[in-house]
Amino acid sequence: MKHLLSIEALTRDEIYDVLDLAETLKASRGHHEFLPLAGQCWALIFSKSSTRTRVSFEVGIRELGGSVMFLSATDIQLGRGEPIEDTARVMGRMLDGAVIRTFLQSDVETFAQYSRIPTVNALTDDEHPCQILADLQTIRERMGSLEGRSVCFVGDGACNVAASWIWAAAKLDLELRIAAPAGFQPSDTLLERARRTGHISVFEDPNEAARGVDVLYTDVWVSMGKESEAAERMASLAKYQINEKLVECAAPGALVMHCLPAYRGKEITAETFEAHAETLFDQAENRLHAQKAILQLIAHRA
Ligand code: CP
Ligand code: NVA
Repeated sequence: MKHLLSIEALTRDEIYDVLDLAETLKASRGHHEFLPLAGQCWALIFSKSSTRTRVSFEVGIRELGGSVMFLSATDIQLGRGEPIEDTARVMGRMLDGAVIRTFLQSDVETFAQYSRIPTVNALTDDEHPCQILADLQTIRERMGSLEGRSVCFVGDGACNVAASWIWAAAKLDLELRIAAPAGFQPSDTLLERARRTGHISVFEDPNEAARGVDVLYTDVWVSMGKESEAAERMASLAKYQINEKLVECAAPGALVMHCLPAYRGKEITAETFEAHAETLFDQAENRLHAQKAILQLIAHRA
């Protein structure tokens, strides 16, 4: 692996390499002997808000022996219109790796190409690969294996997290059901490409979609950058909430997952959130372990 740009670009074996290493790193946290980022300096370049991703990368890079700088895109010349190609070539001369959160997927890909340093997609409008790798780690920890598992994504089925789930299902042969109303379903082109290998179906009825599944998963109704559509989104997605009635449709003992941040009373009720808080915060913690695995796998070695 040279970069982590999307789940779409990963093979099944590469996904399992991340998950296996993440498990090892979690078990050995606090006493790693191998410091693959020793002597390296990485940058986090963020154009959108973040709590989990920022903290987990900052901690993870330090735990692997590296140093890290956080750059808000508005504070560097990129925010004043310097091209991504030039930003990338400057940073590539000085840094050992970059973690980028932005809008356009093409910007992360262009950065990787021009900087020639290991580059991680920390969320774009198209994908959130680090999140889904941590989610897969969480499901495997809690359920023993990913084989034959079914996941129901409820809500904005056209968002970045749903898209990364679509690719995870395609690569790992999981069953993925997306419950979303018209206008919030994944595009036909994405489904057509991913369905070549995956069992992916789209439902308008959330109860039907949730029937017997192992995992119920949701994300915010208003993703970053979509704030101007908030009222319309709240109205259209109101029935696509994870609540106790929906949990009853899933398999007994089903996991309830959310990438966070969560808006109680919107995509998930406070009651269901608290009932599944252990899983939800394992998911958040696993961002650290999964991303340390990614960093170790893509870092250039001295
Ligand atoms: N789930 C996630 O990426 O959270 P942050 O936006 O807080 O980084
Ligand atoms: N779909 C959400 C994920 C937040 C972690 C967003 O892009 O805002």
